[in-house]
Amino acid sequence: MPDTLTITDNRTGKRYELPISEGAIRATDLRQIKVAPDDGGLMTYDPAFMNTAACRSRITFIDGDNGVLEYRGYPIEQLAERSTFLETAYLLIFGELPTVTQAAEWKQQIGARLAVPEAVRGLTASFARDAHPMGMYLSAFGALSALYPDSKRIADEPTRRLQQHRLLAAAPTVAACGYRHGTGRPFIEPDPSLSFPGNFLAMLFTGDRPYTPHPVLERALDVLFVLHADHEQNCSTSTMRGVGSSHTDPYAAMAGAVAALYGPLHGGANEGVLRMLTEIGSVSAIPGIIEQVKAGKRRLMGFGHRVYKSYDPRALIIKQTADQVFAVTGTNPLLDVALALERIALEDDYFVSRRLYPNVDFYSGLIYQAMGFPASMFTVLFAIGRTAGWLAQWEELVNDAEQKIARPRQIYFGSARRDFVPLEQRG
Ligand code: CMC
Repeated sequence: MPDTLTITDNRTGKRYELPISEGAIRATDLRQIKVAPDDGGLMTYDPAFMNTAACRSRITFIDGDNGVLEYRGYPIEQLAERSTFLETAYLLIFGELPTVTQAAEWKQQIGARLAVPEAVRGLTASFARDAHPMGMYLSAFGALSALYPDSKRIADEPTRRLQQHRLLAAAPTVAACGYRHGTGRPFIEPDPSLSFPGNFLAMLFTGDRPYTPHPVLERALDVLFVLHADHEQNCSTSTMRGVGSSHTDPYAAMAGAVAALYGPLHGGANEGVLRMLTEIGSVSAIPGIIEQVKAGKRRLMGFGHRVYKSYDPRALIIKQTADQVFAVTGTNPLLDVALALERIALEDDYFVSRRLYPNVDFYSGLIYQAMGFPASMFTVLFAIGRTAGWLAQWEELVNDAEQKIARPRQIYFGSARRDFVPLEQRG
C-alpha cells in the first residue's frame, strides 16, 4: 500500500494524492487544494496545536497512553535513579551521555560561569520585597540579553555553546538573587566546588552559620531538576522555539519561555496545587472541592495533561522521592490530603472518563515545601530544570534547515471592508 492520502474535494470534484511521511502529511501540501486559481488554498485549523507537529525532533519521546518519557532514548526512570541534572543537561543538548573527560569539562564550564553580572543583582534589588519570584526571574533574562550582546551571533557554534554554559549557570544564581531579595537577606556568592543543587541550596539557605545541604535533600532536588529537564513541545518550549525562530538571542527567547511557564496551566500549577491543598486543609473537605470541579467552577490543579492519558511517569517518581525527603524533614501534613484527593479523584467517573491523572506538579510542591521553599519559588524551581530542555530545543531549532520564522495562519472572520467614519458623525 502506498504511503499516501487521497483527498476528494467535493466542492470541485478534484482528487489529490498527498504523501504521508512519519505519520504526517505536510500542511503546505494542502495549499494545492483550491476552488479558484486566486484562492490561497486549503488550510488546517488547529487552535492550541492539538494535532500539529511544528518540528522534527530527536530530543524527547513521550508515549502519553502508556506513560513513557525518554530523553534521547533513555527512560526517565533510569535517568532519575542514576544520572545527575548536569549530566542530563549535557545529554539533552549534545545527544549523548558525556565521557568522564567531557563530564569534568562540562562541570568546569558551568561552574566557571555561576556568577551573574552585578547589574542583575541591581535589577533584582529594584523590585518590591514581595514581588513574585517568577516576575523577577523572567526580567533577569531580558536583562542578560542586553548584558551579553555577543549572544546575537547565533549562527556561530562556539558563541552558542558559551551562551548555553552561561544560561545553565545563571539559572540557579538568578533564582537565588530573587529569593534572597524577597527574604531581605544578603546575596550569597555561588560556590563551584559544590554540586549543582548543593550550590543552589547553599545560595538560598546559608544563614549566619555555614550551610551544608543534607545529602538526601540535595539528591532529591537534583532528581526533580532531571524530571523537569525537558518535555518536548510544551507551551514554554514552543515559546522558546517561536521566539528563537526570529533569530533573536537565547536570553530573550528564554525570557519568553519563562513567561510562558509562569502561567497556572503550565509551570505555575505546582504553586497552584499547594495553595489548593492548603485551602482544602483536611480530608473531610475533599468531596466539596470535587463537586466544585465537576460543576466546572474550578480545576483540580496538578491533574490532567495534554499528552498523558495515563499516570504521568514523573509524578510516580516524585511520589517515591517524597518518601525519602519526608524521612529527613518529617512528613508534610498536606500529604494525607493529597493522597486522599488522588484516591477520591481516581475513583470518580468525571476523572476516569476524561483520563485525568496526577501530573508532575501534583506532588512536587509538597517536597519543595518540606525542603523549606516558599510556594512562590516553586515555578522558579521548575524553570531551573527546564532550562536544559529549552537550550537543547533551541540548539536543534538553530540547526534545522527546515525551520523558518514561526508564523501561523488565521481564519479572518471580522468586518468586511468599510469606510472610516469621522468621530463627529458616529452616533
Ligand atoms: N480539573 C478538572 N477538569 C479538568 C482538568 C482539571 N485539572 N483538566 C482537564 N479537565 C477536563 C476539562 O474540563 C475538559 O472537560 P470537558 O471535556 O467536559 O470540557 C477535559 O478534561 C479536557 O480538558 P482540556 O482543557 O481540553 O485539556 P487540555 O489538554 O487543553 O489541558 C491542562 C491540559 C494540563 C492544561 C489541563 O488538564 C489543566 O488545566 N490541568 C490543571 C493545571 C495543571 O495541573 N497544569 C500542569 C500540567 S503538567 C506540567 C506542565 O505542563 O507544566
